[in-house]
Amino acid sequence: MKTGIARFTTVAALAASGGHCAGSSHASATDVAADGAARPPSDSPTSDDDASADAGGDAGAVPIDPSVLTLLEMLSPPTLPAPPADDTDRFADDPAAAHLGQELFFDPAFSGALLDPDNDGTAHTLGSAGQTGRVACAGCHLPAAAFSDSRSLGGGISLASGWGLRKAPSLLDVGQDKLLMWDGRRDALYNQVFGPIESPLEMNSSRLYAVEVLASKYRTEYEAIFGPMPAFDDPQSFPQLAASATGCQQGGVLTPTCTGTMHGMPGDDAEYSGLSPTDQQAVTLAVVNIGKAVGAYERRLTCGQGRFDRWMRGDASALSASEERGAVVFVTTGQCVRCHSGPYLSDQTFHNVGLTPAQVNFSPPDDGDHGAATGIAAALADPLSTQGSFSDGDDGRLPTTIPPTFEGAFKTPMLRCVGGRPAFMHTGQLHTLNEVVAFFNRGGDRPEFGTSEIKALGLSTEDQSALASFLHALDGPGPDTSLLQAP
Ligand code: HEC
Ligand code: HEC
Repeated sequence: MKTGIARFTTVAALAASGGHCAGSSHASATDVAADGAARPPSDSPTSDDDASADAGGDAGAVPIDPSVLTLLEMLSPPTLPAPPADDTDRFADDPAAAHLGQELFFDPAFSGALLDPDNDGTAHTLGSAGQTGRVACAGCHLPAAAFSDSRSLGGGISLASGWGLRKAPSLLDVGQDKLLMWDGRRDALYNQVFGPIESPLEMNSSRLYAVEVLASKYRTEYEAIFGPMPAFDDPQSFPQLAASATGCQQGGVLTPTCTGTMHGMPGDDAEYSGLSPTDQQAVTLAVVNIGKAVGAYERRLTCGQGRFDRWMRGDASALSASEERGAVVFVTTGQCVRCHSGPYLSDQTFHNVGLTPAQVNFSPPDDGDHGAATGIAAALADPLSTQGSFSDGDDGRLPTTIPPTFEGAFKTPMLRCVGGRPAFMHTGQLHTLNEVVAFFNRGGDRPEFGTSEIKALGLSTEDQSALASFLHALDGPGPDTSLLQAP
């Protein structure tokens, strides 16, 4: 503790003196070493165990020199940037839209029947097979689990109508992201909602049913924001779908596609296909607006600054010695900042880290998954994308070509509040941060597709556990409590 304060004082003084500028860095680093303050936590006189454990490796002595400090400052600016303005969605920061979006996020009324017989009505499920109206966004993005899924059995992947293949990502700070999903196949919060609504494994519903529920429950509020809503609840104008008739009716679905017909959406050869193109357009637009409302709410979900940031501002007691050491390893020998960079600890792009998909829970392993190579291709082909007519503008967020490195690559997750997530990686197959660190330390495993960018690190066991404790220190206060339930 004493060592920590002394060392941190030196770090803060360095920052104040601008010692991290390239020109002066060598002299400053020497000064720090000379006064004995800038030593790794393991050099504390009280931690002989650490010192001897480190003797076998060379990662023990990691002085916080100015270049390291510069790297740490990039992870912790004095204030965290708000979600960037969104040219594709003019309601992105509309308070009334965010209020409606919060209601919709917690409302299960939009969902069709639960299909998988694993839905046995226990607390790990959202109800019993055959029941309708059980699945809200919040059913898999739980406020208490950093808006990830701690409800489904095993805490890895989600069981809603059926079992999915990928883990529900945390939604904290999702407003920072432009390319969404683990593989980038959605490029805006407003079009992302079509995924869960129309997936037979998630809400098992459809855009037509969604607007009918919207009309019956939220017409006034919707119209105050988005203008007049067509008569979606008038059977003369739109065929009315029962909750049990939306989406897929084929029970026992264990694969990502419905074995029968999805009703109420494009390709149903029935209720939706029978609508005039104008009416189809009106239905889709209303769901886009649902997405804009939900997106405005999601942009408010933030982790916020926590102990790491307090430590960077000079509160030496905010981090333990191990957490301090982990911070240094993160930006140096651990090489984590190669990808986990910036204030949210993500470069917001896609990398192949050599994960071999494993079976998680009762779902088959997520194999055959090419990641961003197919995800970005899907986004480019999506009529709902930011390049299409439902977008309020195209800010060029979609790449024009798909680089070969996107083969087998997944999105670098942001890491603020990472300790609150129930499982890790896109498959949810790693259950502790220690396992994640061990994974990177061994150079990953064997990617199913493409080439891994990860090489073995050879970190000492101390450095590995320090890294894991640092990750836990990336906690924060989370969103305002008023955002954690239906308004
Ligand atoms: C069955 C569980 C489930 C439900 C219900 C669900 N989600 Fe998700 N969500 C997931 C999973 C799993 C992923 C990642 C899927 C992928 O990458 O293929 C995801 C991804 C996302 C993402 C992208 C996050 C990122 O970091 O890229 C957003 C945003 C999101 N969901 C919002 C919602 C909203 C809004 C709803 C309700 C309309 C919803 N989800 C309903 C499981 C669910
Ligand atoms: C080459 C880029 C790259 C490097 C280097 C890297 N990561 Fe990652 N990290 C990723 C990607 C991409 C994922 C998601 C991979 C997946 O799900 O298939 C990930 C996942 C994670 C996760 C899981 C988060 C979640 O929500 O599932 C943690 C924690 C993490 N990394 C920490 C680290 C640490 C600590 C280091 C340094 C030892 C590191 N990463 C190095 C790109 C990288």
